[in-house]
Amino acid sequence: MQQGVRIIELFRKEREYLEKSVLVRGWVRTKRESKAGISFIEVNDGSCLRNLQIIAEHRGSGYQEVLEKLTTGCSIGVEGKVVASPGKGQSIELHAAKIEVYGWADPATYPLQKKRHSFEFLRQIAHLRARTNTMGAVTRVRNRLSYAIHQFFQERGFHYIQTPIITASDCEGAGDIFRVTTLDPTRISSAESEAIYQQDFFGRPTYLTVSGQLQAEIYALSLGQVYTFGPTFRAENSNTSRHLAEFWMVEPEAAFCDLQDNLQLAESFIKAIIGACLDESAEDIDFFTRFVQPALRANLEHIVNSSFETITYTQAIDLLKKSTENFTFPVEWGNDLQAEHERYLTEKVFRKPVSIIDFPRAIKPFYMRVNDDHKTVAAMDVLMPGIGEIIGGSQREERLEVLLEQMRLKGISTEDYRWYVELREFGTAPHSGFGLGFERLVQFTTGLGNIREAIPFPRTPGHADF
Ligand code: 4AD
Ligand code: MG
Repeated sequence: MQQGVRIIELFRKEREYLEKSVLVRGWVRTKRESKAGISFIEVNDGSCLRNLQIIAEHRGSGYQEVLEKLTTGCSIGVEGKVVASPGKGQSIELHAAKIEVYGWADPATYPLQKKRHSFEFLRQIAHLRARTNTMGAVTRVRNRLSYAIHQFFQERGFHYIQTPIITASDCEGAGDIFRVTTLDPTRISSAESEAIYQQDFFGRPTYLTVSGQLQAEIYALSLGQVYTFGPTFRAENSNTSRHLAEFWMVEPEAAFCDLQDNLQLAESFIKAIIGACLDESAEDIDFFTRFVQPALRANLEHIVNSSFETITYTQAIDLLKKSTENFTFPVEWGNDLQAEHERYLTEKVFRKPVSIIDFPRAIKPFYMRVNDDHKTVAAMDVLMPGIGEIIGGSQREERLEVLLEQMRLKGISTEDYRWYVELREFGTAPHSGFGLGFERLVQFTTGLGNIREAIPFPRTPGHADF
């Protein structure tokens, strides 16, 4: 096809393009008619939030017929001259010499007519919602954050590795896992026996991964510093604005790194990637600040410029106990922190990100390093205002004897995790890592209220459409 120019490129290099002839292609957002027989067409091509205004004169244009039929949603190509715009709100516009229509969108049936639609409605048309300003902006921010994540780790010498999606291990031990099987559920007997699994594809029970951590540890204990960034799956039946059944996780893992180093890494990481977005997705961030959350830009700048608070779990419990807030869930040493507790600490007490460390041993997975008090482990959760937990991580138990003891206490089979144990038998080393929930980060960076808008095709209980 003939070379066109992306709209973002035109706006970036306005001066170079002035008075030049170009071809622009995209989708019609709106069309307005003036009395003088001129049409104003707003075209968006997804390269940026801004539309390009097309000026099209009916008389003697050769495209009059097409112009009359043109409606919101049509896909078009326009050739014409870039001129300085006399109108408010845009610096340049395009005077159409030729208009080609690639695809019509019948106004009687095209769903995106009204200017504003509810997010619930848009989720049902995930194949079209990408054409809205909001989803376009989310998608570009998501893209920018992904790129910044790779940049951050690459600049620090972390190797990008791919951990498996089908796995036989349940890293978090939470039990909320999706089974992977080729057995026909209508044909197998109801008795769950070893014999059934032997007929299955892998000859053993397998699942969709809940985290790439255990495999990342293997590579951290050979390449030193690695990270994985991929999809993870959890079958928890929680219909909240912060949970998805399929979400992406960024998981760095580093040898010769303790909990303090891990905390430092997490803080610089969050600041760097949000900072990159503020600089390079400024237009989209301003859009969310204007239409979604008025304090967004200020909040993001605050994150980049503040230093995160670190407190122990025990200190957190003390603060919660002292508070006059009416919590739904009881505050007791030994209980896990709930979203309401996390939000109270970040939004009311500290008003910035808070890392909580040293959680009770009993409520955390077997792989976390046991502290000298034998009651707590070297865990860390990073909490963000408005979101709550965004990162979960820890220093890992590298001492063979202590790990075996942890596995025994938590009922984890040393046979199934032989390989994990061997990493402690052969050349063990202190190491740490964490996992950042990518959609929670996107949610935070865009100020959107529901995590279902932070991913192109959300999977939640009862919903796996598209
Ligand atoms: O705290 P989690 O469960 O930690 C782990 O899985 C560790 N193995 C990671 C590691 O140390 N390498 O999950 C990490 C993060 C959470 O803090 C949260 O941001 C996100 O993953 N997360 C979810 N995001 C969306 N939907 C869900 N259902 C999520 N569950 C966890
Ligand atoms: Mg967690």
